[in-house]
Amino acid sequence: MITIIGSGRVGATTAAFLMFFEPDNEIVLIDVIKNLPQGEALDLNHAAAILGKSVRYRGSNDYKDMEGSDLVIVTAGLARKPGMTREELAAKNAEIVASIAEQIRKYAPNSIVIITTNPLDAMVYVLYKKLGFPRNRVIGFSGVLDSQRMAYYASLLVGIAPESIIPVVLGQHGENMYPVPEASFVYGKPLTEFITKEQYDDIVKKTVQAGAEITNLRGFSSNWGPAAGLALMVDSIKKDRKRIFEASVYLDGEYGVRDVFAEVPVVLGKNGVEKIIELNLNEEQKKKFLASVEAIRKNLMQVPPQFLS
Ligand code: 2OP
Repeated sequence: MITIIGSGRVGATTAAFLMFFEPDNEIVLIDVIKNLPQGEALDLNHAAAILGKSVRYRGSNDYKDMEGSDLVIVTAGLARKPGMTREELAAKNAEIVASIAEQIRKYAPNSIVIITTNPLDAMVYVLYKKLGFPRNRVIGFSGVLDSQRMAYYASLLVGIAPESIIPVVLGQHGENMYPVPEASFVYGKPLTEFITKEQYDDIVKKTVQAGAEITNLRGFSSNWGPAAGLALMVDSIKKDRKRIFEASVYLDGEYGVRDVFAEVPVVLGKNGVEKIIELNLNEEQKKKFLASVEAIRKNLMQVPPQFLS
């Protein structure tokens, strides 16, 4: 059983995309807004019936209904409005995440938990501290989004499909994220061999700004990209596919840092994070990665201390 907490755009779209992967037959949608998850579930059940999919949805306002879930996706929290940074959401969302963590601990103590709430790397830290689960079972979403956004922008310039590019974006899911085109590969060749310096800068800028660009254009934050990435991660975990994705995970010495969540490539399988892939960064790249991690630590300083232990 999979539970999605938060039936806003990201939660509902993720529920819909999961239908196509059929990682589980039962998906529970939970939200504090009365009737919203029930309405989404009903509409999704109609869609599944039309498409002949085996997944069945249940909507609830009661956290108890997540009981028995082996995977929980947390999409709850305030989202960015135009002109806002992800970091401005820290204090309010930390409170929401901490209270949800308590419910997950109570009703789904053995679950693997993926969270999308922003500012991502700070919120997944709050979740980790409040859950007390081993680190392989607490995962911050967004690396898939940032890295595939980079693959998308690169693909437009080099004329090669995004899925044939292995993109690398490290560090923070925020203004200080660290896209690394020189560590990204096109069938074994560095991406940088296909692009000019100008194009390199353009890809980096567009990748960092992608979330804000969507929010500024349409007035609300992304949902299609996040939902697509989440569906792939869930598929890899539930079917033990052991695919590599970027995700924000707890680093305990890897990449030379400790006690912080940051985006790095990981193997996702039935145990959640099965392996952290450590890239061989050169001195300059290490410095840039550490600068991005520093920005995450600054985000954590905006979180009231009671949510950090
Ligand atoms: C994004 O990058 C919402 O942070 C999310 O689109």
